[in-house]
Amino acid sequence: MTEESLNGLKRSMYCGEVRPEHVGRHITVMGWVQKVRNKGSLIFIDVRDRAGIVQVVLSEDNASPVLLEQASALRTEFVVAVSGQVQRREGAVNEKLPTGEVEIVAEQIHVLSAAKTTPFQILDEVDTREDLRLKYRYLDLRRPKMQHNLWLRHQVTAAIRNFLNQEGFLEIETPMLIKSTPEGARDYLVPSRVHPGHFYALPQSPQMYKQLLMISGMDRYYQLARCFRDEDLRADRQPEFTQVDMELSFVEEDDIMNVNERMIAKVFHDVAGWEISLPMRRMTWNEAMDRYGSDKPDLRFGMEIQDVSEVVSGCGFGVFESALASGGVVRCLVVKGQADMPRKKIDALGEVAKLYRAKGLAWIGLHEDGTVKSPIAKFMSEEKLQEIVTAAGAEKGDLIVFCADKKKIVCDALGNVRLHLGHQLDLIDPNHHEFLWVTQFPMFEYSEEEGRYMAMHHPFTMPYEEDLAYLFSDPGRVRAKAYDMVLDGVEMGGGSIRIHRKDIQEKVFEALGFTMEEAMEKFGFFLEAFSYGAPPHGGLAFGLDRMIMLLCGTDNIREVIAFPKIKDASCLMSEAPSTVDEKQLEELHLMLRGKSE
Ligand code: AMO
Ligand code: AMP
Repeated sequence: MTEESLNGLKRSMYCGEVRPEHVGRHITVMGWVQKVRNKGSLIFIDVRDRAGIVQVVLSEDNASPVLLEQASALRTEFVVAVSGQVQRREGAVNEKLPTGEVEIVAEQIHVLSAAKTTPFQILDEVDTREDLRLKYRYLDLRRPKMQHNLWLRHQVTAAIRNFLNQEGFLEIETPMLIKSTPEGARDYLVPSRVHPGHFYALPQSPQMYKQLLMISGMDRYYQLARCFRDEDLRADRQPEFTQVDMELSFVEEDDIMNVNERMIAKVFHDVAGWEISLPMRRMTWNEAMDRYGSDKPDLRFGMEIQDVSEVVSGCGFGVFESALASGGVVRCLVVKGQADMPRKKIDALGEVAKLYRAKGLAWIGLHEDGTVKSPIAKFMSEEKLQEIVTAAGAEKGDLIVFCADKKKIVCDALGNVRLHLGHQLDLIDPNHHEFLWVTQFPMFEYSEEEGRYMAMHHPFTMPYEEDLAYLFSDPGRVRAKAYDMVLDGVEMGGGSIRIHRKDIQEKVFEALGFTMEEAMEKFGFFLEAFSYGAPPHGGLAFGLDRMIMLLCGTDNIREVIAFPKIKDASCLMSEAPSTVDEKQLEELHLMLRGKSE
């Protein structure tokens, strides 16, 4: 099979664009052979490009023997150019294809590239193992679904750029080789050849640079910024990912939330037809934790957490009593109509709770016939049990599951049990969406690992002025001017108002346990900039990959990234990361500590 060059041949339209209005026209399409069907006197070739598939037909009656021979030699995934006349299909119309009413009567076929048999069929319906798809990602990306996902991603970034340009934002690039700073996730490091023993870090986000741009007077900045974080990967996390990053000067929280919810409403509407009513709901972090046990609650279903600490006190069940005695709480979920849930499933809920460090779940099943089933009923009087049921707001037919522990563990466990039940009991309508702003995050979070308070968002986040008094006495109580946008239980973006006052920044560092000298060492250039006139400012960053995931209705972030990495941060196609030559190491003044695999 000889492969040809184009030699001046031009494509006149995409395969997927041929329509009845083109009947009678001579056209040239170029693409990949999806399928060849040889019916003896008739040969059909489906040719595919990014726009779709079109049928090419040759018949013994009007095609030359040479052309027929050429056509029958075609194989799946050959790259071809086909010229011919568009006609209405003589055979059955294919309702499934937008081009299904027409076909091209081939006059010339050029093979531009032959192809080996692909390791999997290029079809949406074929269920291929993901590792194989990723190894041959360039083939996987030929599938219409993947083409659609990347097309959608492009539509979204184009719409975002349009919107922000119109709102007066400047798109500015910030460096990829930056100084390593503490806090946040682990950095990816790049050794310097010129400066032995010195390293750059790849940015975890453009945070410091975008704030410096505000000090520079750029007023409104945005960037579709690549970010790098060496952290444990999950279904919705990648080691490199893209942020829609922005920063604004002379603004407060409302201004930032306003421009961002307008952006999301416009982009989601224009690209995917979503109708989003504004303003979006808001909920404080405290309320979200209390009602849903999560800082990113999924509001598509109810089943809110109930606090029964007061009524259960003195109930006689040791687990509850001791949790309360040590300053903990007892909270529950009322699972409507599930009194008859099989024991095995209830136990499975307990296992979910244990994943989040709870010791277990206690439960009460209120059967329709008035009987009560519960492993804890025997510890308390009937009156007490009734009191608890009433306080929980449960009725006949319901199941109540309780968790007793420190508040943080109870929220986390019941929040996740709630999500588990939402999916298991099919309480979520996939066509319904709920946006939410979660506001007033705590400024600090105690890290058991580090044995100190850490910034929950980052150390440049502005605390509420009225909470500054607790900075040292009760850091856990200080609220930050930070907000997240949550969609259907996924944190799509987050940001904050930043500290522009040096006095407050110094205090926050102190509360985080850095001396000013240490802070200067780490963030010196940044802190110094604030002494030359910093405007009040704030911003936000969306995770673009997550946004596209939500728009595509997938829960796998790899489906919306052209060349993603797998769980161990490697690339199955290129096999990055890899070892390097001794010479390269030498140039970088590096010696390996142990043997690499
Ligand atoms: P934050 O760390 O919350 O904020 O990140 C912003 C958004 O980025 C997305 N995201 C990720 N997406 C994919 N893979 C990851 N590993 C990953 N990590 C985060 C999330 C998240 O909401 N500089 C601040 C923003 C600001 O304050 O303006 C920042 O980076 O959707
Ligand atoms: P036990 O006394 O360990 O046999 O536990 C009795 C019941 O209480 C079991 O159903 C446990 O799952 C449940 N349970 C144990 N610890 C907790 C807890 N911290 N909160 C709620 N229920 C619990």
